Amino acid sequence: MEAIVVEGRSRLQGRVTVSGSKNAVLPIIAACLLTGDECYLEDIPRLADVDTMCGVIGEMGAQVYPDGVNNLHINAGSIAKMEPPYEYVRRMRASFLVMGPLLARFGRVKVSLPGGCAIGARPIDLHLKGMAALGASITVNKGNVEAAATGRLKGAQVYLDFPSVGATENIMMAAALAEGTTTIENAAGEPEIVDLANFINSLGGRVTGAGTRVIKIDGVKELHGSHHAVIPDRVEAGTFMIAAAATGGDVLVENVIPTHLKAVMAKLTETGAHLAEEEGGIRVQADLPLRAVDIKTMPYPGFPTDMQAQFMALLTTARGSSMVTETVFENRFMHVNELKRMGASIVIEGHCAVIKGKNKLTGAPVKATDLRAGAALIIAGLMAEGETSISCVQHIDRGYENLVAKLQALGAQIRREER
Ligand code: EPZ
Repeated sequence: MEAIVVEGRSRLQGRVTVSGSKNAVLPIIAACLLTGDECYLEDIPRLADVDTMCGVIGEMGAQVYPDGVNNLHINAGSIAKMEPPYEYVRRMRASFLVMGPLLARFGRVKVSLPGGCAIGARPIDLHLKGMAALGASITVNKGNVEAAATGRLKGAQVYLDFPSVGATENIMMAAALAEGTTTIENAAGEPEIVDLANFINSLGGRVTGAGTRVIKIDGVKELHGSHHAVIPDRVEAGTFMIAAAATGGDVLVENVIPTHLKAVMAKLTETGAHLAEEEGGIRVQADLPLRAVDIKTMPYPGFPTDMQAQFMALLTTARGSSMVTETVFENRFMHVNELKRMGASIVIEGHCAVIKGKNKLTGAPVKATDLRAGAALIIAGLMAEGETSISCVQHIDRGYENLVAKLQALGAQIRREER
């Protein structure tokens, strides 16, 4: 079984370049199904999840072929099947994002219900509410969702009970080819939503308001091909910024959009780290120990749930006690028990975790329970005395391109090996 082995303590120093955004490119690959023309995507991160999404649309008949390492040609001119293979949807929830495009372009789709995962049940009721509002008939049986529309979908007003990223994306894509105007109220406003809207508009779509809580989509009859470069991955960038501060390092994180990272930058500054925009990137310097701070995850522009685990690792040796409140997912504290194996002092009370800063962590064998928990354990391993070995690295490979090599280049004693 492969493991990532980290020798602490490492102070990260140097510069690192962030890859393209996983959470932007996954819906954009799905959106290529909206047109029969060729799309060319640049700055694509080489990740397991990207390979899975390419497999999903490829299995249905789309032509997907790489151009170099980080660029893709996609042509969905000959979609033969309206059903992504179950094993793909089971492996990756984002496969469900093919529902909107297929329903919009072909009037029917069958997708297996995505399972829950380590961080929560992750229902899809808001996705289905949106499709029904646009005129689709929805049936759920034998673990599959089947949606069908007679003729074109019809524009509608959709209110999202929660600003769900995936539901906003699925509805935006479905509405792009609908007849009439769709308004999504209480929409998600993440930067990845804006990138998807920009991509749809580059296909000839008419989306306005992306990035705010109200998105308007004027449906068009047909969409054409496009050439699009994906935004940088703010979660990867934040992960490196947190790692730099947590190890008392000095790192220039390049290929970032600072406005995407305001919440994380604000909280890192509160810990006493020094952040500055330099040479088109963000430089993070810190002297240890850092100060304890409280964080509460919220939909964008609040503190991102995808950086909660990583920040908690930093807080385990901050001076004082911190409170971390997770409001987006119901079970996103799976990393707590693993951090406690390394000597962290953390108590969970419902959606809150109280972290009492310790002088140091001690390396130990630990398990990555999900993607961001894995990243948090690597940060903890960099902070700890001695060796930490992290198993279940497949979770980490889903969302971080060349993470071990990037950390080695920053001076980390880290390697992959069979254990
Ligand atoms: C996206 O997941 C991201 N994934 C997640 O990143 C991220 O954590 C999440 O948004 C929140 O920012 C991708 O973009 C591929 P949601 P998504 O729908 O779309 C509830 C990572 O580490 N909900 O905004 O699945 C849901 O249960 C991953 O990169 C409903 O109740 O997230 C959850 O509690 C992890 N009904 C909350 O909304 C629905 O129909 C947020 O989910 C849909 C969601």
